[in-house]
Amino acid sequence: HARLPCDLVVMGGTGDLAMRKLLPALYYLQRDGNLHPQSRILALARARHDSSSYRRLVQRHVSQHVAPGDFDQASWQAFAERIDYLSLDVSQRVEFPRLANALGQADGRVRVFYLATLPELFAATAEHLGAAGLIDAQTRIVLEKPLGSSGQSAERINQRIAAVCDESQVFRIDHYLGKEAVQNLLALRFGNALFEPLWRNAHIEHVQISVLETVGVENRGAYYDQAGAMRDMLQNHLLQLLCLVAMEAPVHFGAEAVRNEKLKILEALRPITGMDVQDQTVRGQYADGERASERLPAYYFEKSVDHDSNTETFVALRAEIDNWRWSGVPFYLRTGKALAHRKSEIVIQFKPVPHRLFASDGRAPAHNRLVIGLQPQEDISLSLMAKAPGRGMALQEVELDLNLAEAFRRRRWDAYERLLLDVIEGDATLFMRRDEIAAAWRWVDPIIRGWQDCYRSPKRYAAGSWGPEAADSLLERYGHDWLDRRES
Ligand code: BG6
Repeated sequence: HARLPCDLVVMGGTGDLAMRKLLPALYYLQRDGNLHPQSRILALARARHDSSSYRRLVQRHVSQHVAPGDFDQASWQAFAERIDYLSLDVSQRVEFPRLANALGQADGRVRVFYLATLPELFAATAEHLGAAGLIDAQTRIVLEKPLGSSGQSAERINQRIAAVCDESQVFRIDHYLGKEAVQNLLALRFGNALFEPLWRNAHIEHVQISVLETVGVENRGAYYDQAGAMRDMLQNHLLQLLCLVAMEAPVHFGAEAVRNEKLKILEALRPITGMDVQDQTVRGQYADGERASERLPAYYFEKSVDHDSNTETFVALRAEIDNWRWSGVPFYLRTGKALAHRKSEIVIQFKPVPHRLFASDGRAPAHNRLVIGLQPQEDISLSLMAKAPGRGMALQEVELDLNLAEAFRRRRWDAYERLLLDVIEGDATLFMRRDEIAAAWRWVDPIIRGWQDCYRSPKRYAAGSWGPEAADSLLERYGHDWLDRRES
């Protein structure tokens, strides 16, 4: 179990994230013996609950959100005993002495304040914690994304938080970094001698990173309509994936070494500004459509979304990294909601052989391709050219497939299990540092500004489709195509 006893305070304790992700993850940590016997969980929110009514609420959600068969009474009882609830408005400084009272003396225990609240409350909450004397050297503050809506607003939050605690105490979550499949990217690159010598512009033609979702905005219209796909997904999750694909090998697997390398990539991204914004990026918004004969509503009919909304629910773009290793290699990034399939994958397309000896069947492109599937399946496949059986020497593309769930017949940890344990242990390797956030915004801000300046509406695409056609033409212009288009 975790080495240290911990008081974990979940602010926003009745919210969606707490119920769907944090408490189920903590339940698993409890069930599998990964929590220190003396660790406690204190949930805070404005709603009037006492600890027992709150526990009933948690039980209902946790039992729904863990995998069937994983919820057992004995583990639940032991888990429930750790949980308490305090009804408190985190926006009110005067309420914090009550929190200090409930927590008592830290006595060497780790204190984690998990801010699963509206981001507008982050900075003030941290200040209130400081004023109530709740921050000492053993305190950690966890911030959910999105952190700000631009470089400037993110920096303002970061500055106010830096005034009450040290950067090493701030854990900014990007839950994609907690996913097994994402960490496996590092294992693939730096735990094998095979790929790294080829992992550069001399051999790689282009890279595709896609995070495609079937869900629409669900109940999050009010937040999403302000954010859009660029701020909600690309500024964080997709850029983090890009960093892991592109970064140099860190000297060791420690927080500063890994984050230094990621930062160098973010700083090497070629700015997309002015006319290039229209040229190199595509934004889309879903119109009504259907999937498997089910009618799907248009984005602007979703709950809490403005009927004239110009917010994008899809982005595709072509990025370039101006450094020695990646010069001239396009990185195509794409993410969207209400699409035909849920699929996240990274495609590394290698350059063709320098001289063709053999005829191909005309369809096979003579490219090797490494496809790293992140969701819903975790798999790695490498396409090779092989001789088609029979007379002659015609080549055909075949695939070497590795399904990681089959290779390791063990339950895959949810991203939040890993990340919560890392916070308790004080390991920040998989969290975003302040300068990374700033660098990501520095690259994203001018793109958003370019969109605002040209007043063009996003391209419509039918819900349940593969996104706007413009995303296909973006690649076609450079002689490439999205991998899934090749299959369909
Ligand atoms: C969140 C976004 O960060 O990630 C959501 O706010 C998105 O809009 C979600 O749906 C996707 O996460 P996952 O783990 O389901 O791929």
